[in-house]
Amino acid sequence: MEFNFDIRSYFSSPIVTIHNSLIPAHFQGDKRELNLCYQHMSEIIDKIGAASAIAQGLQKPITSALKILNSEHTLYLLTDRNGGPKKHGVVIGLLKMGWKNLFLFNKAGECIERNTLCILDFYVHESMQRMGCGNALFEHMLQDMKVLAHQLAIDKPSQKFLCFLNKHYGLSQIVPQNNHFVVFSQFFDDISKKEGMKKKAPWSCKDKASDFVSKPTRHLHSQLW
Ligand code: ACO
Repeated sequence: MEFNFDIRSYFSSPIVTIHNSLIPAHFQGDKRELNLCYQHMSEIIDKIGAASAIAQGLQKPITSALKILNSEHTLYLLTDRNGGPKKHGVVIGLLKMGWKNLFLFNKAGECIERNTLCILDFYVHESMQRMGCGNALFEHMLQDMKVLAHQLAIDKPSQKFLCFLNKHYGLSQIVPQNNHFVVFSQFFDDISKKEGMKKKAPWSCKDKASDFVSKPTRHLHSQLW
C-alpha cells in the first residue's frame, strides 16, 4: 500500500507499534514534523483500516485513526521501508489488539469472566498474502505482549485467519461461545491449571446469550465449531 509521501521517517523498523497518540514510539522531530507525522499516520491507519474492512466484507472499518485515538488498543503496522516505485516505503499489514472483559464457556459449559487479550483486526495486503508477512506480524505481537497464541480470544475470525492459526500454531479445536469471540480448547487448559474454572454458571448459555451477542458473526464456517 503506497502513499504520496515518504513513510520511512515514521517507521524506524519493519514493525512499529501505535497507541492512542498515533505517533510511532521512536519518532523524533520538531513541532511541525510531529504535526505532519500525526496527519500522515492518520492517513496510513485510515487507508489500511479501510482495506482490511473490504477484505473482510465489513460494511465499515473497525480500524481507523479516530477509533485508535479513542481507545486503549495497540496497533502493529508492518512495512517494507524500501518498497514502492519511488522507494518511499509501503505499508503491508496491520494487527490490532485490545483487552475485553469476556464471559467464556469451556466445553463442559462452565463459565469464567476474564479480562482477555483479543485480536480485533488482522490484515495483510492482497499482494503480500501467503508469503509469511502475517506470521511475522503475529510473532512480533506475541513476543511484544508476552503471550501465547492459544491464550488469545479472536473477534470473529475469517476462514483465512482460522487456516492461519491452524497452520502456524496448531489451533483447530474451537470451543463455541455465546458471543462473537473465538477461543480454542487450550485456552481453558491454562486457566484450569492456574485459577480453576467456576462451577457451572447459574444461568444457561442460551439465557445469557442476549447479553453477549451484539454483532453477527463474520465468516465462521459451521463445520469448524
Ligand atoms: N485461503 C486459505 N488460507 C489462507 C489464505 C487463503 N486465501 N491466505 C492465508 N491463509 C492462511 C493459510 O494457512 C496459509 O498457509 P498456506 O499458504 O500454506 O495455505 C497461511 O495463512 C499463510 O500464512 P502467512 O503468509 O503468514 O499469512 P498472511 O500474510 O497471508 O496473513 C491473513 C494472514 C492476515 C489472515 C491474510 O490472509 C489476510 O489479510 N486475509 C484477509 C483479511 C482477513 O481475513 N483477516 C482476518 C480477519 S479476522 C480478524 O481480524 C479478527
